[in-house]
Amino acid sequence: MYDFYLGGRDNYEVDREAAQRVIDFFPDIVPTTRANRQFMHRAVRHLVRAGIRQIIDIGTGIPTAPNTHQVAQEVAPDVRVAYIDNDPIVATHAGAHLLGTGNTGFFLGDMRDPDAILGHPTIGKLIDFDQPVGLLLVAVVHFLPDDAEAAALIAAYRDALPAGSMFVLTHATEDFHSVEAGMGEARDVYRQRGATATVTTRRYEQILPFFDGYDLVDPGLVQIPLWHPDGELPTAEELSHVGTYGGIGVKL
Ligand SMILES: C[S@@+](CC[C@H](N)C(=O)[O-])C[C@H]1O[C@@H](n2cnc3c(N)ncnc32)[C@H](O)[C@@H]1O
Repeated sequence: MYDFYLGGRDNYEVDREAAQRVIDFFPDIVPTTRANRQFMHRAVRHLVRAGIRQIIDIGTGIPTAPNTHQVAQEVAPDVRVAYIDNDPIVATHAGAHLLGTGNTGFFLGDMRDPDAILGHPTIGKLIDFDQPVGLLLVAVVHFLPDDAEAAALIAAYRDALPAGSMFVLTHATEDFHSVEAGMGEARDVYRQRGATATVTTRRYEQILPFFDGYDLVDPGLVQIPLWHPDGELPTAEELSHVGTYGGIGVKL
């Protein structure tokens, strides 16, 4: 469904039908997911320009070109990327799209199990924990309903990274406009389809502590189109349709 919102082609008829119902209830899902993906591209370029040469992308999603390694390797061809998702459908598409070069790897893993992810042989092959690492948790932490659990997991990943590592986070919010009206019905569509995780939106002051132990890169934690926009600044009208915060932290 996320792939359909992004305009991708790796989706099935049942997904397209359900996604269209979600769009009917909650049209901002489309500009929000697209702004999220564009933020992710800008963030990855920022990391690589800052010297990061190895990235762990947890909750990577169904591959949608350009993927993290393609964005990164356009800036520096030697960047290594380990992709992780807990959805077997992502795994079926990963071989074709995420494993183009020897510098990338994918494995099925759950962000709620940092030991299993950080200790996985693919991580061992691609990531050197003596060098700064880029950690991407992009549009995935809002699938964790409990604040304390989310904070503890993020801290576990942080503690495994050397100083100078960079953490990229995006997170759904209702700070900019209430999504309650259409969101209830949209959640029902996911539930009817057997989705086990729904989105938990959080306020600025709930998301900011996820950067504990990191120095936030300017302009801090902001509505994603406002983070280092390419070209023209987004208009107020465009911003009114995007319910997501994003930011990058540098590990102290
Ligand atoms: C909204 S997509 C985001 C994809 C990509 N990061 C992006 O922002 O374009 C969320 C992805 O997180 C994955 N996900 C959700 N819960 C997860 C978990 N506990 N562990 C690993 N991946 C998870 C889903 O399977 C889905 O592919």
